[in-house]
Amino acid sequence: MTANRKKPKSDFSQSLLKWFDHYGRKSLPWQQTRDPYYIWIAEIMLQQTQVETVISYYQKFIARFPNIDSLANAEAEAVMTYWAGLGYYARARNLHRAAQQIRDQHGGDFPLRLDQVMALPGIGRSTASAILAFSQNARHPILDGNVKRVLTRYFAIAGYPATKAVENQLWVLAEQLTPNKRVADYTQAIMDFGATLCSRRYPDCSKCPISHKCLAFLQGNPASYPTPKPKAPRPHRQSRMILISNSNSEYLLIKRPPSGIWGGLWVFPELSNAEQDFQRWCKKELGIAVKSGKNMAIVHHGFTHFELEIQPIHCTVDRAAPGFMGGFIGGIMDTDHYLWHNPLSNAPIAIPTAIKKIFNQLVE
Ligand code: ADE
Repeated sequence: MTANRKKPKSDFSQSLLKWFDHYGRKSLPWQQTRDPYYIWIAEIMLQQTQVETVISYYQKFIARFPNIDSLANAEAEAVMTYWAGLGYYARARNLHRAAQQIRDQHGGDFPLRLDQVMALPGIGRSTASAILAFSQNARHPILDGNVKRVLTRYFAIAGYPATKAVENQLWVLAEQLTPNKRVADYTQAIMDFGATLCSRRYPDCSKCPISHKCLAFLQGNPASYPTPKPKAPRPHRQSRMILISNSNSEYLLIKRPPSGIWGGLWVFPELSNAEQDFQRWCKKELGIAVKSGKNMAIVHHGFTHFELEIQPIHCTVDRAAPGFMGGFIGGIMDTDHYLWHNPLSNAPIAIPTAIKKIFNQLVE
């Protein structure tokens, strides 16, 4: 390598610094100080809250708690009052506890070693590094959500970034890319770059100073990085439904209440979970004596938040059943809520797909 040829890693940071000099944010309130206390407060507020929202909270908070001692010695209630509206209140409780820890263990001076900062409640590695980078210009890489997005795109790293293997790989790259000089500016540069040009949904690659080396851009799919969190499998719920047919091959349907699953639609009677004896249940709840039933094939139906497995139990009305006649349930005619229905011969009614699947099984 010739003396004046830049290493690829330094190309990355130099390009971002140049971009920062033109477009980066430099006048935010917490950028006007090198005091780690103020920077800490700002970084904690910025963890889950937008810059625009943070500004006024930050100003009021530091006016009320201008130093570590004032925060450490404050009542928890006062701290919470100044946090009210910012959300994620564990952040405020941790700030308060951390201030007390600094008062008791560090003589009231904000610690300046990474391990000491990380030992404070509510401060992870990336936030600790940001505080030291901004306040001391100390060379510590950061890896917040924005930086993860920038790096997974630039290096086309697949895999959900919160998994240990991917995260370790990203920390190594973050470490290699952090320059030796202008660390504070570089840290703000990569945060701002990730929050604006390299945004999650609409990366503006046409204006990007590093797109020519960005593997995701060169592959043509920058928005597909980072890999999204794998979806947790939907929980399974079980249901047993009783298909009671009469001598006209009609099935008893019940109208669901207006709200909740299948609100206002017609479904088969659903056996409560605790009930083992469906014949007893039909007698007690419907006033119908049914002959012994037969389990049909289980029907699966997917909802947004769960997967329903329906066990249909097919049975017929016992002719001798007291209280039963077509259209009568338990001796009471209530056609607003009960219906004998034959899907082949009756006019269509509002039946959910899962119930149609069961009817289809019946005619097969
Ligand atoms: N998010 C976290 N830290 C930030 C900072 N210093 N500036 C802007 N956004 C941020």
